[in-house]
Amino acid sequence: MSLGLTEHRKKDREQGLAEIREALGSRSIVLIGLMGAGKTAVGRRLASRLDLPFIDADAEIEEAAGSNISEIFAEHGEAYFRQGERKVIARLLKSGPQVLATGGGAYMNAETRANIKAHGISVWLRADLKVLLKRVNRRDNRPLLTGDDHEAVMKKLMAERYPIYAEADVTVESRDVPHDTIVGAVVDALADKLGCAKKPAKDQSREKV
Ligand code: S3P
Repeated sequence: MSLGLTEHRKKDREQGLAEIREALGSRSIVLIGLMGAGKTAVGRRLASRLDLPFIDADAEIEEAAGSNISEIFAEHGEAYFRQGERKVIARLLKSGPQVLATGGGAYMNAETRANIKAHGISVWLRADLKVLLKRVNRRDNRPLLTGDDHEAVMKKLMAERYPIYAEADVTVESRDVPHDTIVGAVVDALADKLGCAKKPAKDQSREKV
């Protein structure tokens, strides 16, 4: 039986995803980036495409603390939150392979960066100010954005964090396009980084099964 082009593409896509899973071994794909970069939305879809579990570090911190992030900041302060964030991410990294979305400040901690390096492959979802502001202004659940001047806060965080985020294994531009498009770009970047080569299209069309 010879396969049609669509079936060939599907088969190739599945094979490409399987190669990424194999190359990952027990490592996690760790999404980093500023608030509004799309770490959770892209991470959830990426995990489903790769057939891996999706874990959101912020949700795990909330679960461990029994309260939400705004409450943790208000009741115990940022330093306490950062300590919990560091511990929870260290614990989560032991359970790969998985897609792990981290809060925007997590990668700024040197110990967390080293842990991610040892147990994962980091993907920086990089976005420009306009895209980030459009997204963060949709919700008001972020303790670092309680004031009116979100633009000033985000600019400051970009200046402080982008040089560190740039240490990530892979960088993907998180543009204002459907999340699935970004997922495709992440998959391609991972395949490239992990050395999962693509087969040339002309060989695929002749293949019979
Ligand atoms: C933070 C980002 C938030 C959350 C906390 C602090 C930060 O996560 O961890 O409010 O320091 O950038 P998201 O990046 O998922 O919004």
